[in-house]
Amino acid sequence: GPTREPIDPVRYLSNHSSGKQGHAIAAAARSAGADVTLVSGPVAIPDPEGVRVVHVETAQQMLKEVQAALPADVFISTAAVADWAVAAPASSKTKKTRGAPPPVLKLVENPDILATISKLSFNRPPLVVGFAAETDDVIDHGREKLARKGCDLIVANDVSPAAGVMGGDANQVHIVSADGVESW
Ligand code: C5P
Repeated sequence: GPTREPIDPVRYLSNHSSGKQGHAIAAAARSAGADVTLVSGPVAIPDPEGVRVVHVETAQQMLKEVQAALPADVFISTAAVADWAVAAPASSKTKKTRGAPPPVLKLVENPDILATISKLSFNRPPLVVGFAAETDDVIDHGREKLARKGCDLIVANDVSPAAGVMGGDANQVHIVSADGVESW
């Protein structure tokens, strides 16, 4: 399994994600006949059946496990990876001391897993799919992200509160490629 760095099990920084979208895509790829490895962050839903599942807790671990799953025909980067990590994680619970000032957290940038895999010169999957969660100018931001990250498709979601997508079971997406946009 993945290497586990000792981290404070009580206090941590995370991007919230239900994991529903990534797990559903893994299950759908399996149903379509693919041999699937799902690298999943901490979620409260069961592992999909018929899929190899690797559970990770940090962006570093996720990158390492994605690299370990190569070569692959397709890489689909659904994870809501946090952009920053705590520079010096505590190895046990960070205690509160009466009268002491609140701790100051120093952050470091996490690896961009999608960009790293898209830009591989060896073993780059022939199809790399990224996601974009946007609240406005959804398609323009999708195009910009496609170019910047170097992937082949961007699945752009409107996550503005009015769309009601976050944590829900239904979604509307725009699939952005070099050739144009398809809305599903
Ligand atoms: O930059 P942004 O987070 O908006 O881009 C979203 C896309 O990039 C998603 O496909 C997500 O899985 C991927 N990503 C990543 N590593 C990061 C941040 C985002 O793979 N550190």
